[in-house]
Amino acid sequence: MKPRVLVTRRIAEPAVARLHEEAEVDYRDEDRAIEREELLSRATSAEGIVSGLSDPMDSALMEASPQLKVIANVAVGYDNIDVEEATARGIVVTNTPGVLTETTADLAFALLMAAARRLVEGDVYVREGRWDRFQMTLLLGADVYGKTIGIAGFGRIGQAVARRARGFDMTVLYTKRTPLEPAVEAELGSRRVDKATLLKEADFVVLALPLSEETYHYIGREELRAMKRTAILVNIARGAVVDESALVSALQEGEIAASGLDVFEHEPSVPAEFVSMENVVLTPHIASASVETREKMALMAAENCLAVLSGRPPSSPLNPEVLNP
Ligand code: NAP
Ligand code: GLV
Repeated sequence: MKPRVLVTRRIAEPAVARLHEEAEVDYRDEDRAIEREELLSRATSAEGIVSGLSDPMDSALMEASPQLKVIANVAVGYDNIDVEEATARGIVVTNTPGVLTETTADLAFALLMAAARRLVEGDVYVREGRWDRFQMTLLLGADVYGKTIGIAGFGRIGQAVARRARGFDMTVLYTKRTPLEPAVEAELGSRRVDKATLLKEADFVVLALPLSEETYHYIGREELRAMKRTAILVNIARGAVVDESALVSALQEGEIAASGLDVFEHEPSVPAEFVSMENVVLTPHIASASVETREKMALMAAENCLAVLSGRPPSSPLNPEVLNP
C-alpha cells in the first residue's frame, strides 16, 4: 500500500505529480494557509506532510498524527516547525536549502535598489500623471555603488547578496557567529565584524538570518539608533527578526532613511504605518517567488518526503539523527 501524504497548500504541479507516483496524496489545492482545525483533522492519518512556512508544525499537530514519519517544508526557513519535538518523536524534518538562494538574493538586492533609488515612488508619480517636466531635484535618492553593505547572517543567501554587492564595488561587512574560512572571506571580498560595527558603518543593512530565540527582534530601538541616519534596512529573513514598532518610530523620526521589507511579524498583516510611508518598499514575502525556483523548492520537498517514506536518504534532513540513531 502507498504511504499517505498530506500537502497542506498548492505547490508546483510537477511536484504533485511526482508525489502521486509513490504516495496516496491528500492534496489541498488552495493557495492560502490551511486553518488549524482542518490541518489537525487532515493530518490524522498522514505519514508524510509537505508543509508551508505558515503551517505551525508543533507538538499538538504531531500528537494528532500518530503515523507521521516526515515533515517536508517547502521553504529553507523552518521556524514554523518544532524540530526538537519532531526528533523526540522520530519524525524526520527537511527543508529546501540552496535552490532558492540566488532568487532570494536577487529580491534582497532589488529591495535595496528600490529603496535607495525611490523606484516605487517614481512609478507612482508617473502613473498618477504628476510628471510634467524634467527637474534636477526630483526624487533624489542615494547612490548604491561604492557604498558599504552590512550583511547580518552570512550563509547561503547572505553570501549571494555579497556577490551582487561586489558587482557594485561595495565594501562588504558581515556578521555571523562563526567566522568563514579566510579563503571564502577573501573570495567574497568581505570582512567579518561584530554587530555594533556593522550597524555603525553600513550604508545598507541586509538581514539574512534564520528566526530563532537568539535572533528574535535582532534589530530593535537600540540597533536602529546605532545605524547611520542615511542608512537603509532590508529584511528578507523573517519579520520577527525586526521589532516592527521600533522600525516604524525610527523611520518616522528620521533615525534611518528608508527600508525594504519582504517579511512581517504577523503576515499577512502589515503595520498601517509602513503602508503610509513613502520611504518603505513593501513586498508580500516573495523573495523566492520565481517560477523556476518555486518549482525546484516543491520538487525538493516532494523528493525529501518520498525518500523518507521509502527508506532512501533525503537530501536535506534537519535532524539526521532520526535517520541514523
Ligand atoms: P543559512 O545558509 O543557514 O544562513 C544563515 C546565516 O545566519 C548563517 O551565516 C549563520 O551563521 C547566521 N546566523 C544564524 N544565527 C545567527 C545569530 N544569532 N547571529 C548572527 N548570525 C547568525 O540560511 P539561508 O539559506 O541563507 O537562509 C537564511 C534565512 O533567510 C532563512 O532561515 C529564512 O528564514 C530566510 N529566507 C527568506 C526568504 C523569503 O522569501 N523572504 C527566502 C529564503 C530564506 P552562524 O551559524 O555562524 O551564526
Ligand atoms: C522562505 O521564506 C523560505 O524560508 O524559504
